[in-house]
Amino acid sequence: MATAEQLSLRVFLPCFLLVAICVRPPLSRAAARASDTVSRDQPLSGGHRLVSKGGKFAVGFFQPDDTAPDRWYLAIWYNKISKHTPVWIANRARPISNPDSSELTISQDGNMALLDRLQSTIWATDITSNTSVSNSTVGIILDTGNFVLVPSSNTTDFLWQSFNEPTNVWLPGAKFGRNKVTGHTTRIVSWDSSVDPSPGYYTLLIDPDGSNQFIHQWNDSEIYWATGNWTGSMFTGMPEMASYPKALLKYEFVDNDQESYFIYHINETILTAMFLMEVSGQVKGVAWLESAQDWVPFFAVPKAQCSVYFVCGSFAMCTENTFTFCSCLRGFNKQYEGNWLYGNPRGGCTRKAKLQCGANSSRNTEIDGFYTLSIANLPDKASTSSIVAASADACKQACLNNCSCVAYFYDDSCSLWYGDLINLVSPDGSTGHVIYVRLAASEFFSGSTKTGKPLAVWALTGGAILIAIIVIAGVLLVPMKKIYNKRNKIEGCLVVFSFRYLRTVTKNFSEILGRGSFGSVYKGILPDGTLVAVKKLDGLSQGEKPFRAEVSTIGTIQHVNLIRLLGFCTEQSMKMLVYEYMPNGSLDRNIFASTPVELSWNVRFQIALGVAKGLSYLHEGCRSCIIHCDIKPENVLLDASFKPKIADFGLAKLVGRDFSRVLTTMRGTVGYLAPEWISGTAITPKADVFSYGMLLFEIMSGKRNSAWHQQKMEFFPVLVATRLQEGGDIKALFDSEIMQDANLHEVGRACKVACWCIQDDENTRPAMGEIVQILEGLLDIDLPPVPSYLQVLADRSKFSSYEAS
Ligand SMILES: *[C@@H]1O[C@H](CO)[C@@H](O)[C@H](O)[C@H]1NC(C)=O
Ligand SMILES: *[C@@H]1O[C@H](CO)[C@@H](O)[C@H](O)[C@H]1NC(C)=O
Ligand SMILES: *[C@@H]1O[C@H](CO)[C@@H](O)[C@H](O)[C@H]1NC(C)=O
Ligand SMILES: *[C@@H]1O[C@H](CO)[C@@H](O)[C@H](O)[C@H]1NC(C)=O
Ligand SMILES: *[C@@H]1O[C@H](CO)[C@@H](O)[C@H](O)[C@H]1NC(C)=O
Ligand SMILES: *[C@@H]1O[C@H](CO)[C@@H](O)[C@H](O)[C@H]1NC(C)=O
Ligand SMILES: *[C@@H]1O[C@H](CO)[C@@H](O)[C@H](O)[C@H]1NC(C)=O
Ligand SMILES: *[C@@H]1O[C@H](CO)[C@@H](O)[C@H](O)[C@H]1NC(C)=O
Repeated sequence: MATAEQLSLRVFLPCFLLVAICVRPPLSRAAARASDTVSRDQPLSGGHRLVSKGGKFAVGFFQPDDTAPDRWYLAIWYNKISKHTPVWIANRARPISNPDSSELTISQDGNMALLDRLQSTIWATDITSNTSVSNSTVGIILDTGNFVLVPSSNTTDFLWQSFNEPTNVWLPGAKFGRNKVTGHTTRIVSWDSSVDPSPGYYTLLIDPDGSNQFIHQWNDSEIYWATGNWTGSMFTGMPEMASYPKALLKYEFVDNDQESYFIYHINETILTAMFLMEVSGQVKGVAWLESAQDWVPFFAVPKAQCSVYFVCGSFAMCTENTFTFCSCLRGFNKQYEGNWLYGNPRGGCTRKAKLQCGANSSRNTEIDGFYTLSIANLPDKASTSSIVAASADACKQACLNNCSCVAYFYDDSCSLWYGDLINLVSPDGSTGHVIYVRLAASEFFSGSTKTGKPLAVWALTGGAILIAIIVIAGVLLVPMKKIYNKRNKIEGCLVVFSFRYLRTVTKNFSEILGRGSFGSVYKGILPDGTLVAVKKLDGLSQGEKPFRAEVSTIGTIQHVNLIRLLGFCTEQSMKMLVYEYMPNGSLDRNIFASTPVELSWNVRFQIALGVAKGLSYLHEGCRSCIIHCDIKPENVLLDASFKPKIADFGLAKLVGRDFSRVLTTMRGTVGYLAPEWISGTAITPKADVFSYGMLLFEIMSGKRNSAWHQQKMEFFPVLVATRLQEGGDIKALFDSEIMQDANLHEVGRACKVACWCIQDDENTRPAMGEIVQILEGLLDIDLPPVPSYLQVLADRSKFSSYEAS
């Protein structure tokens, strides 16, 4: 029983945001001691910890993996943040088995040292001894997160400091670069997996060749990304640095005789943030968000996960914008499932069936075969065959003739790959190449090879490993009474459903309610009669990222105009979200119905107001700002009394209150996208305001904005804006049936608001809070100008597509 629960927690602990809310601190034995200093007389051991003067950082022992009870590390972590976040580890490659019998102390030569049970040195600082200071050095944890070794007579004389030897995190205020006198170079190196801090493959360091740029390196050999040289205000490869708000993030590059380094400072009154090298080889800037109780990335290089060298290992395909991003090629299985679970798929994949090897013409059926694989770029390490193959067939034969040849590509010349295939990336749209991958003959003749469905999905539904109980999130971690006293409304935590339970509840996913951007939605009935909507996310394509975004966003907030998430299910590749059921379905089915009279003006206006209130809450009401990023009629649902609720937070971006811009590569839906999305600049809540404006036109007119264009009529929003300017009859522009009972003041206000929302310059668009007041008639606004951007777009017929990206 206990193992089953542990198993299911193990599955989502590494990848799953919300669980963090419930995770207890690593050692609750933190006793009365709260010194910031370690000395020979006061060594550190067991559950004790050092705490910096201001309480910001702590030093102590921790355990990254509950399932490996004998692996402990001496670390610095954020003391005031609910999610245990180590920022430095002394013994990352040499865990100790028991913190109670180990100690951090000052050794005879004045160095700080971590000693294990047998008093052997696991880790130590490396200052050269000087007898006059060595009997009086102490270690102090500072409020900057720097752990320093100083003479007790002068605590500003840093003999050694952790800032010079970072692990995977580069904290604000730490110099990152090269000391030209000692030759020391600072570097951050990824963890090997999300539960193993030992050094992984990926390193960030200043260019060893002496130029003023930083490089990302794989296995100390392949450089897979570089910042470009420092120009005096930014790195050439990172022009977006110019747009970072200076009040929040200050940085400089210093290059003199002694040293060259980059340093940054975060305004801590606003934000807690840091940079780190991820297990997956990206350097990320992350900021702590209280509302999400998690670190949220605001920066990543390289931007594309798949441009990280070797990120998926051998014989695996990398697909951008998916959370697990790696998958094995056809005919291959994951090498070590465990590593994949913990965010390290670099073991890659191995063949299911051994190659037959060698063309044996007398037994034709046993010759290995090839299948075509579309990829974005040709994989690394091709040998262009010395035999100039005259044809694709000769190229194929050349590959078959050598046992270690695994793939070929023919394009006038013949390229062959030997050994492993690495760095395969899914083609993005139409561009790409086709290579031929070698598989054993048996892979082509055994049973059903026709579908593209991964076998794993079927194996799962087959149910050998399903746990048929409802596990409550944090059952192991949160006191039981708290959960049972409140039945459905568990504060902060959501219900975790098992796959089998949801399959029963939805009668084997028989009643489909609709298809959203990331999967299908099914109707379900809980045993107590409550109706729910179960959204099954598309595991194959874009499932994981929206899943995380959705749970971390909507899972933590509540408002009458926002859909309520009741729980979720995450069993391996299955991702499902469970919502309250909305009897009237999505807004598009109601407002674009063939008989528009079903929704009177009054109802439409209340819907528009409700959506505005929901958005206003998202933007301004929660502790941190949330941008929905995909406001459109499909994402607004109606309850039994036609009250609107905003849904589908799969694209939502969390933004710290003062961190007003967030860089993003995500896209919403064409036709509702603000110009700043298309121009590629940063996104603010005003992007939602734009989409809301477009939605408001559709709510009022009962027609798609695009429909007007397709029918060769003037683009509706432009028509309304022009009519307002001319002071003409607005009502005449709308369907007379909808306008039957219309309050003309409301129509006027709604038109004006909608036109202001879709202005080119985001600064002239009103905030959602203002929009609510204007619609309610509490605030007045001027006549809006005609937005020129839309006129241009309308001319260029850009508004014909409504496909989700
Ligand atoms: C040792 O420290 C003393 C006092 O701080 C200093 O005068 C002396 O030069 C140091 N010796 C070495 C070898 O660094
Ligand atoms: C340092 O301490 C050791 C033992 O505690 C002592 O033997 C030695 O004389 C001390 N050295 C100095 C310079 O104080
Ligand atoms: C303490 O050390 C710092 C850095 O080495 C030095 O600048 C300062 O003068 C020292 N103070 C005293 C009182 O020795
Ligand atoms: C960066 O600077 C180095 C010299 O400092 C120079 O050799 C190199 O070409 C520069 N790189 C680029 C991309 O400008
Ligand atoms: C990484 O580099 C080391 C040393 O150069 C080498 O032995 C090892 O095979 C490399 N790892 C991989 C996966 O190529
Ligand atoms: C930090 O932010 C606060 C609030 O915005 C501001 O008053 C203060 O001047 C900022 N500090 C720095 C050093 O920029
Ligand atoms: C080819 O097949 C024949 C008949 O089965 C067998 O005798 C021979 O050893 C095979 N040759 C190779 C290279 O596998
Ligand atoms: C196959 O190709 C590899 C790599 O080019 C080469 O080292 C090996 O000798 C070849 N084997 C045969 C049997 O041709």
